Amino acid sequence: MPGIKIGVIGLGGIAGGVHLPGIVKCKDFELTALCDIDREKLDRLGDLYKIGSSMRFTDYHDLIASNQVEAVDICTPNDRHFEMVMEALNARKPYAVEKPVTMNAGEAETLVRLTKERAIKNMVCFSYRFKAAARYARHLVQSGALGELYHVYMQYFQSWGNPDLATPLVWRFVKARSGSGALGDLGCHALDLARFVSGREYTRVTGDAGTFVKERSLPEAPRKGTVDVDDYCHYLTRMEGGVSAVFEITRFGFGRGNFQRLEIYGRKGALVYKLDENPGLDELEICVGQPLGQLNTFVKIPVPPSYRGDQMQSFADIINEKSDGLAALIEDGLASQRALDAVVDSFENERWVKI
Ligand SMILES: NC(=O)c1ccc[n+]([C@@H]2O[C@H](COP(=O)([O-])OP(=O)(O)OC[C@H]3O[C@@H](n4cnc5c(N)ncnc54)[C@H](O)[C@@H]3O)[C@@H](O)[C@H]2O)c1
Repeated sequence: MPGIKIGVIGLGGIAGGVHLPGIVKCKDFELTALCDIDREKLDRLGDLYKIGSSMRFTDYHDLIASNQVEAVDICTPNDRHFEMVMEALNARKPYAVEKPVTMNAGEAETLVRLTKERAIKNMVCFSYRFKAAARYARHLVQSGALGELYHVYMQYFQSWGNPDLATPLVWRFVKARSGSGALGDLGCHALDLARFVSGREYTRVTGDAGTFVKERSLPEAPRKGTVDVDDYCHYLTRMEGGVSAVFEITRFGFGRGNFQRLEIYGRKGALVYKLDENPGLDELEICVGQPLGQLNTFVKIPVPPSYRGDQMQSFADIINEKSDGLAALIEDGLASQRALDAVVDSFENERWVKI
């Protein structure tokens, strides 16, 4: 069977590192088109992936309109997601979109409504849902192995904000392009992962955020510009059923590459999901029942290989109606966006915010 013809918009870090390799590895896709406003990047990746010059676009409208494109994969900075998804919806084409889905919950609500009305297949790229340890943790929690849930604690640390690394004022430091800083970048993954594993929705939040490095060099000019987003964001949430969930999110975690730790405590057991404590590995420790509980002992468990997931294969499966139901959809993007907006409101106005 011929693969679904897919075009990718935005050929930066995540497209080059994850999406494009994932698409060419997937037998259900045929990569037919690329788009980026950066001509040099477009031609470099066009050559690498053997895309002819007529299918290399600098305007995303042309890629989405092409009859050689049946599905659209959106990997641009956050401020462009909404208009690009809208264009895919108007063309009645399935779309995958990077996180955070939009700049605010209002935009995400519009996308949910139109996606439903037009019955368009879709996926939001909450990539950590594809980690086997996260999927197995979800299975354990939702099959009741931990009993009644009490606490969720989640850390997500990276280190590239550290001033000694001299990261310039890329779009991630500019609110008009990103929506928020560490919160929207890392915190939205954390919000989605805790929700995915626990199966609970957020009901209220309060947070604190700050910026350590207030000016950075402009990439294109020999002067500095202002950072107007958070470098770190810590927030306390309530989830359904009275679960208390706490999040620690920073770009200033010295020595941390892409470190995540999610701890869940219930009446009959607890688990710890870890990413990148040992570089590149996702791992799971549990303490369930007795005697482990009385011994205060957590043991590392092997994760069954059947729990492995693959992001781009999942998008193809959604389009082909073979989905395992675990990838995030636009409704999950909205849930995360509502929580993000509430965290921003809470730290800007120093209060609890209901969701
Ligand atoms: N799921 C994940 O784990 C993960 C990881 C990294 C980034 N992301 C998300 O992916 C998106 C892109 O991040 P990135 O790190 O690849 O950024 P990046 O800056 O490396 O790449 C963005 C690319 O988009 C291009 N672009 C910008 N405006 C465009 C337009 N109007 N039309 C076409 N191309 C355009 C830029 O030229 C650039 O090549 C962001 O939303 C980010 O939050 C997700």
